[in-house]
Amino acid sequence: MSAERERKESSTQSPGYGQAAGKVILIGEHAVVHGVPALVAGLNRGARARATLNEQDQVFAGDDELALDHELYQGLKRLRELLDMPQTRLELQLEIPSGSGLGASAALGVAAARALVELRENVYGFETSEQQLCTAIDAWENVFHGNASGVDAAAARLGGVLEFTRGAATTPVSSTRVLNLAIAIAGPPAPTKMMVAGVARYKERNPQQFAETLAAFHSLTSNAVACLRAGDHEGLGKLFDLAQILLAGWMVSTSEIENACRIAREAGALGAKLTGSGGGGCVVAVCASPESTKQVLLSWQNAGLQAFSSEVQASLPTTK
Ligand code: MEV
Repeated sequence: MSAERERKESSTQSPGYGQAAGKVILIGEHAVVHGVPALVAGLNRGARARATLNEQDQVFAGDDELALDHELYQGLKRLRELLDMPQTRLELQLEIPSGSGLGASAALGVAAARALVELRENVYGFETSEQQLCTAIDAWENVFHGNASGVDAAAARLGGVLEFTRGAATTPVSSTRVLNLAIAIAGPPAPTKMMVAGVARYKERNPQQFAETLAAFHSLTSNAVACLRAGDHEGLGKLFDLAQILLAGWMVSTSEIENACRIAREAGALGAKLTGSGGGGCVVAVCASPESTKQVLLSWQNAGLQAFSSEVQASLPTTK
């Protein structure tokens, strides 16, 4: 058997698999693009991918083969170029709503990159460094995002609760108390690229105000990290409400988002805000207990909103 044929056969027998978490930004979306730390939590659902070598690039979302002009093909091409891989069949499964602020594109990117890395190892025996993996993921993200801070990709790759600063080390945040979150899709999503560009325009027109809000976000994130570490979810809820006011000032909230936040607070949530890039998409509420989360979900569902809960367990503090 020729080496080429042997390689092809072994590749079909040894697909690469990858998976990644969705994310919810607790504090600091948009501000993080401009260098301020954000607090982000990985969700326990996200995306899965399977990759095999193929005669041509093929991308499937669930059972559907995507048309060749779908932008996921550009993401795949960027990944392949960076990992020096030939044409690939990529099968993707998404477990979270797409385009709603829960990091679907980054979760798909991380899952796909991991699948390609595993395939590369199976077929060629090449090891891939974490740095190469991160570079490939950033390239994928920039196809969809434009000026991505990298926060979504970090959460998708690492999971848990993280303090993330663009271009700096990412720090896991530990806590002994489980964080009860309720998440609703408040309205139709808006493209992240467009929302990030809108905030950049606001910054250009109002540099002084923008700098002041950015400083306020910086202290909200520091306080949120302290609240989480101390298990003070009541305090965290208040910070959610303040963050929502600041985000509305940057014109990324909508009447649907404000309405979903109000419903959550009236149902007993400790605080509520948009999560992700806004303009539509998801709202996240922090709740005191699983029972309180149920109340919030019920109120959203009664108002016709799709909603679900997520229990976030930060890593436990290490004892010295
Ligand atoms: C999107 O989930 C979060 C934004 O801050 C954009 C980014 O950080 O890349 C709006």
